[in-house]
Amino acid sequence: MDYFIYKNGVLHAEGVAVPEIAASVGTPFYLYSTATFERHFTVFDEALNGLDHKIFFAMKANGNMAVLRLLAAMGAGMDVVSGGEYAKARAAGVAGDMIVFSGVGKTVDEMRQVLAGGIRQFNVESEPELRQLSRVATEMGKTAPVTLRVNPDVDARTHAKIATGKSENKFGIPMSKAREAYKKAARLPGIEVVGIDVHIGSQLTDLEPFRQAFTRVAALTGALRADGHTIRRLDLGGGLGIPYARSNEAPPLPMDYGQVIRETVGHLGCEIEIEPGRLIAGNAGILVSKVIYLKHGEGRDFLIIDAAMNDLIRPAMYDAHHDIVPVQEPPAGTALAPVDIVGPVCESGDTFSKQRPLPPLKSGDLVAFRSAGAYGAVMASEYNARPLIPEVLVKGDQFAVVRARPTYEDMISRDTLPAWMES
Ligand code: LLP
Repeated sequence: MDYFIYKNGVLHAEGVAVPEIAASVGTPFYLYSTATFERHFTVFDEALNGLDHKIFFAMKANGNMAVLRLLAAMGAGMDVVSGGEYAKARAAGVAGDMIVFSGVGKTVDEMRQVLAGGIRQFNVESEPELRQLSRVATEMGKTAPVTLRVNPDVDARTHAKIATGKSENKFGIPMSKAREAYKKAARLPGIEVVGIDVHIGSQLTDLEPFRQAFTRVAALTGALRADGHTIRRLDLGGGLGIPYARSNEAPPLPMDYGQVIRETVGHLGCEIEIEPGRLIAGNAGILVSKVIYLKHGEGRDFLIIDAAMNDLIRPAMYDAHHDIVPVQEPPAGTALAPVDIVGPVCESGDTFSKQRPLPPLKSGDLVAFRSAGAYGAVMASEYNARPLIPEVLVKGDQFAVVRARPTYEDMISRDTLPAWMES
């Protein structure tokens, strides 16, 4: 559920009419709803009721400082995957012991930064990384709390580019090598093993892969404890999917996901850590864009809008579906006609949707892409020298720009000329 709803025939974000924001900020822009973020976080938290648990927002999904602040204020920790994300999380007021550090390629500099600043745990993905972390921690006179990310070889049944739990993927340590890796970890100086980590993919719309993965983690917990290791935390990653096409998708409810966790690992006496990104942020944001032209092509119509693949890459990259709705609600019974919705970038891949049934739209009309709060703004680029688009946050009847649109001058001045060209 979200707080982007039509009131008196006009799309609103909570108490603010979308056209009002568009007039003030200009299009295109991302628009987030505080109440929706809060609701999703609360629903997720309640789904894990009764379990000793902590939620670490996967901030790769949405790294806006205002969003981080609002989630941190609700008690969220952060799952970070780079020194940059760590710095942003700390700047948003998140304590080091509420940050977990994931990722397959942590550098020595990042290890130093995070050990110096404080960290709850490193989710380590390979033996070379483990040895490197041991060297860095020892050098600094520190002990690094560690889980090892295991690869459970489970088919997440999601888009190939966002599945991570099969042995062919680059992520984690194979289950068959896990006991050996833990044995090595236990012997390394500067390393303290605290648990197990697993993450099998993103936008999962079926609970079965989670059940399989968590069941394997439970078995591994038993085996590792028998080997003498202290396993007190289980980081179960993120990945729960959201409905992108509202008319025909019903991914599992957080409540049912929580139940799978209870049934598979609830009896182990471990602290449960979860790293949701999309479920918290996805439906808390929309992308608002304006129609530039309606072009009649050979046998099809193109709706050319001012947002493009550089602003929202998901359709081009994963063939992802986003519901696209007119900001002015069409009167009941309006006939829909198929259009291709495209951006101005000079690539055929800059197509948001083909033959999408929409009510009649004309130049100047506003449209909104739903479910754009996760992996939207964070994946944007300035391709075609299109400035990064603004982000706006609504709370009740107030709105604020939480990232301003750079000017052309800002973009130009980011590049510098070598001395030999100046004069
Ligand atoms: N934890 C780890 C270790 C991850 O790699 C990810 C996502 C998450 C948590 C959060 O997963 P979520 O709850 O958001 O599904 N750009 C793609 C999604 C990439 C996901 C990468 N890892 C997209 O737009 O669909």
